[in-house]
Amino acid sequence: MKGLILSGGTGTRMRPFTYSRAKQLLPVANKPVLHYCMDFLVAAGIREIGVIVGDTHKQIKASLGDGSKWGAAVAYIHQDQPRGLAHAVLQAADFVGDSSFVMVLGDNLIEEDLTTFLAKFNPTTHAAAIVLREVANPRQFGVAKVAGDEILYLVEKPAEPPSNLAIMGIYLFTPHIFAAARAIKPSARGELEITDAIQYLIEKGHKVRPLTATGQWYDVGSAADLLRANTRVLNSKLAPGKVIIPASTTVINSKIEGPTIIGESCEIVNSYIGPHTSVGDGCSIVNCSVLNSILFDHSSIRNLPWVIESSVIADNAALVGPPGTSVKITAGSNCTINF
Ligand code: G1P
Repeated sequence: MKGLILSGGTGTRMRPFTYSRAKQLLPVANKPVLHYCMDFLVAAGIREIGVIVGDTHKQIKASLGDGSKWGAAVAYIHQDQPRGLAHAVLQAADFVGDSSFVMVLGDNLIEEDLTTFLAKFNPTTHAAAIVLREVANPRQFGVAKVAGDEILYLVEKPAEPPSNLAIMGIYLFTPHIFAAARAIKPSARGELEITDAIQYLIEKGHKVRPLTATGQWYDVGSAADLLRANTRVLNSKLAPGKVIIPASTTVINSKIEGPTIIGESCEIVNSYIGPHTSVGDGCSIVNCSVLNSILFDHSSIRNLPWVIESSVIADNAALVGPPGTSVKITAGSNCTINF
């Protein structure tokens, strides 16, 4: 079985972070979200992986390379414009050929075991199987109405959800999905929705199986989501209190409490770093206190009189104090700076 990761899109909702990196490369515990998708597929034995890319293709290619880091072969497939998930799937028709395949969204961090889902999918009886999860806010997702082992219908971001079962972004498809994606019309938001394509399959008499997930899942759509994912992943990957500090990083007169991860070649001087903090490569933290935060690569915080808490600081950003009675700020567009 082949794998397909959707990694196009412009990530406008995640600005300003996506000015410097593709949405799928936002870091969670110092690892890009997209790398978790690769882990997810490869752990289930999937070695042939197509990655749909758009404007950010250079960064995505630099990050995944040829896939050999995972023992996989990655093929890049270009999508000229982000015209919806069903449009993205159509670009992969040649890559997929006539086999069934697993599709995941490259901006979702999934901690599930794909093997159990694959075992429940029979492509000779079902045109697709869709992974669903109970959520508190189904209006923000595609939502399924299920009866037993069948999905009765699906609806994208419904005002009145027929259930609280959200589409998680893990799809097991047969090539029937291509004809469906060709047949549907763009939605109100102007996109070819994958939810509509699956609904089309159901309307044409195909069976679509629901698969239920219970593990962690983060759709990294806001800074708060990113922080939440960071905390949960640090909690699950590191023992309580554990701190990862590579040998290339200098720590002077500082206290670091875990679970926390620090990148390569950082300098941490006269500072406190509290739990649930991820510090990227090449960062400086001098005379500061920071906790429950994410610093992307090459960012710095120096001489700040406040505790930096629940903050996300993007690549190359610098916050420098002391402010005295006035502050001097160069704030990028869409920045939020809370004093
Ligand atoms: C997409 C799908 C939606 C699904 C969601 C999962 O929504 O259209 O059905 O529930 O991903 O993250 P989007 O994030 O494009 O709004």
